Parts: sequence; structure tokens; C-alpha cells
Amino acid sequence: MGSTAGTRIVELGAGIGRFTAEIAKDAKSVIALDFMQNLIDQNKANNGHMGNIEFRCGDATQLELGEKSADIIFSNWLLMYLSDAEIKNLAQKMLRWLGDDGVVFFRESCFRQSGDRSRANNPTHYRNPRQYFDIFDKTKISRPNGGYDYFELVVCKSVDTYVKVKQNQNQVCWKWKKVSTPSNPSSNDLRYFLDTQYSEDGISKYQMMFGHGFVSPGGIQTTEEFARLLEVKVDDSVLDVGCGVGGAAFYLADKYQCYVHGMDLSVNMIMTALEKAASLDHGSKVSFEVSNAATRDLIGNSYDAVFSRDAFFYIKNKPLLLEKINKVLKPGGRLVFTDYCRAAGETSTFQQYIEERGYSLASLAEYNDMLANAGFTVVSVEDRTHQLISCLENEIDNISKAENSIGADTVQGLKASWSSKLQFARDGQHTWGLFVAIKKSA
Ligand SMILES: C[S@@+](CC[C@H](N)C(=O)[O-])C[C@H]1O[C@@H](n2cnc3c(N)ncnc32)[C@H](O)[C@@H]1O
Repeated sequence: MGSTAGTRIVELGAGIGRFTAEIAKDAKSVIALDFMQNLIDQNKANNGHMGNIEFRCGDATQLELGEKSADIIFSNWLLMYLSDAEIKNLAQKMLRWLGDDGVVFFRESCFRQSGDRSRANNPTHYRNPRQYFDIFDKTKISRPNGGYDYFELVVCKSVDTYVKVKQNQNQVCWKWKKVSTPSNPSSNDLRYFLDTQYSEDGISKYQMMFGHGFVSPGGIQTTEEFARLLEVKVDDSVLDVGCGVGGAAFYLADKYQCYVHGMDLSVNMIMTALEKAASLDHGSKVSFEVSNAATRDLIGNSYDAVFSRDAFFYIKNKPLLLEKINKVLKPGGRLVFTDYCRAAGETSTFQQYIEERGYSLASLAEYNDMLANAGFTVVSVEDRTHQLISCLENEIDNISKAENSIGADTVQGLKASWSSKLQFARDGQHTWGLFVAIKKSA
């Protein structure tokens, strides 16, 4: 949720106050609302002594508050009891109630019931998390100057404790921030760009080429090879940056019995990963989040290793990204990643190719310097372009084999795109780097 110090909080569906006590600790004021009088009475009995909480009995869907009267709106297991129409209406009102940069935090059971007890009558909507995105992404208020207020995603993640204790990924929470923009909210957002690039249909085509679970060169073969360089042990914590649909995360967790947290800015990628995790009978030590690696602040010194496959080329400010990764690693922790890179002397055709795809490529030498400047001891920087070339050749074969299922036109389009990438790699303009680095001890 972030810092609550001095904030005005509204807690919807506060119940007996399991969370009220915690969130009221540093808050300026809290409105704790629940429609069950006996629960709100109990909440008051438990937390009334704190002095900064107003206890209200009422229906969250009927609540009216003043414009910009709250800094944080918090709810735990509330929206899953509301209809889509009620959530849409409430989200719209939340946007009005929040001050500038105000935050909405909610946590819901998704996909299926979490508890073991069967119930005769269960009014809960176990939504696919995509449905909450659908509602909150469409919530906006138009301003008289032509601009909009809307919700910008900070993070959507599976709740860590459920993954650690129960290997259950269906408890999902969101944090959204109210922001204003002079133009259409989606026009400049990298998340929308990635979800267009990686549509659900696109992702399934990519998996036909790279192998199930993967959207990067070599699929499982290169993952097995590069994962060994991480040197992880049982119960280590590993972060996969730009994890895509999670093939490497599932592989690492199963093979090394470590915990893997995958982050990716594409909702389609993470939802595909979460859907897979939720469908496993045996569970897996993986958790996922939708967030922007370039801006997200994770807890420092919390991971034993960081892995990333071909995701950094989307991120412009690589020094900042590497600094952030250095911060989350424990001292001595390893970073292993591959990335599309560039070499000196590129042609204007290659420059155009990079621009059209929204890539931001560094050279291997630049990466070497950036890693050292971000506080790493560089273990190795390898040019693996020859390996990229053979991966691309395999992928072109896989495209041809998929003609029956994806159609001749799609095959032709993909082949054209892959052939130009292959040509740039053969020319030595499009290179591929494999990097291993260790966070220096303080
Ligand atoms: C080529 S795919 C690789 C996916 C995965 N690592 C794999 O090997 O299958 C690149 C991934 O980076 C993600 N990505 C791009 N920019 C990102 C950012 N700023 N933060 C988090 N993920 C990002 C994309 O959404 C995409 O899933």
C-alpha cells in the first residue's frame, strides 16, 4: 500500500477490523465502513481506542463522499461480492473521492474459491483478474480543459504469503494511482503498447515458435543453459524481470525448488502465467506481478538472484534499471540476463527496424560499463550472436510447421519479420549478449 503516514484513508468492507488497526496506525483519519452493524460494532470495540477512526454502518455501493476527500481507498475481499456494474460505478466514484496521486488498493480471490470448505450458497464472483483490469482501465473523468483523470497501474500481484504458505496464486491485489493527463490515457503508456504487441493471439503464436511458456530465443534449451549460471539453491528467492508467460519462472521453481517472482508490464503475459499457475493441481513456488521494471520500487536486499531474458531492450533508462536491480539483490547476489544488442556501424535500415519496434539497444561494451557503474562486479560479457542466429533459423522452421493452425498469411508475415532479424544478425548489426554479474558487497 505504501506509506500511510498522515493520510486520509477510507476502508470499504472493514468488517471486525483485521486491517483497520494496521492501516490506522499512522493515518491522519480512517473511515471504516461495513454494512453489517454487528461487525462494525466489533471493529469499534477492537479499535475505537485509536481515536482516528470513524466507524460507519452502510453499503459501499451507496456511499457518497466529497471530491478529493481521501488519499487512500482500501478494501480486502469486497469487490468480489459486487456485480460488474456495481464495481464500475464504485471505481468511478473512487476516482472522484481521491486527491491528486491518491491510491486505491484492493485484494480479491480470483479464478476459484481459496478455502477448503464447500458452501451451499456462494455469492462470490471469482473473476479472472483481466476483468478487474477491464473495469479500472476504462474508468476516467474528463476534465473541462480536455484532459482526463484516470487510474494508472502501480502493481497487480499475487499475494506473497499465499504463494509461500499454500502455493496458491489466486489471491490477487492491485494498487492504482490517480493521475491526470492532457491526452487519451492509453496513448503514451508502455503497458498498452506491450499488450498490443503481445495480444493473447500473438502470445500463442510466439509460443508456437519459441516453445510453450517462452517468448525468447531458444525457449527451454537456452533457459536450461542460462539458468545454471544463476547458481541458485533450494528456497532461494529469484526475480525474473520481464518474465513473459513465465516459462523460465516455472522451470526454475520446479528444477531448483527456489521461489521465483516474475514481473512483466504486459497484462496479457502475466495473466497467461497466472492462469497456468492457478490451473496446476500440485501448485508451484512462483508468484507474478504486472508492473514496470523501469519504475517499480521493490524491497532492497530481498533476492538471491535476478534473471532476465530479452526484456531490457524495451527499457530506455538502462543505468536506472540496473541500479534498481542492484538494490533488490542481496550482497553477492547474481544477475544473469540476455538482451538484444547493437554493434557499431549500423545502417539506417536497422535503425528504422529498431524504431518501428520500440527497441532501445545498447552495445555489449556499454552494458559492461553500465553494470560496473551500477555496483556490480562483471563476471562475463559474451557475444552470443552465433547462438541467436541458430535460434532464429529454428524459429523460422517452427513458423513453417505451424501453417495449418495459423494460416498462410500469418506465416508469411512472421517469416518476413524473422528473416529481416536474421539478416541483421548475420550482418553483425543485431547482436545478442549474455551477461553475468554479481552485486558487490558493501
Ligand atoms: C521478448 S519478451 C521475453 C519474455 C520472457 N522473458 C521469455 O523469455 O519468454 C520481453 C518481455 O519484456 C516485457 N517488458 C518490456 N518492457 C518491460 C518493462 N518496462 N517492465 C516489465 N516488463 C517489460 C514484455 O512485456 C515482454 O513480456
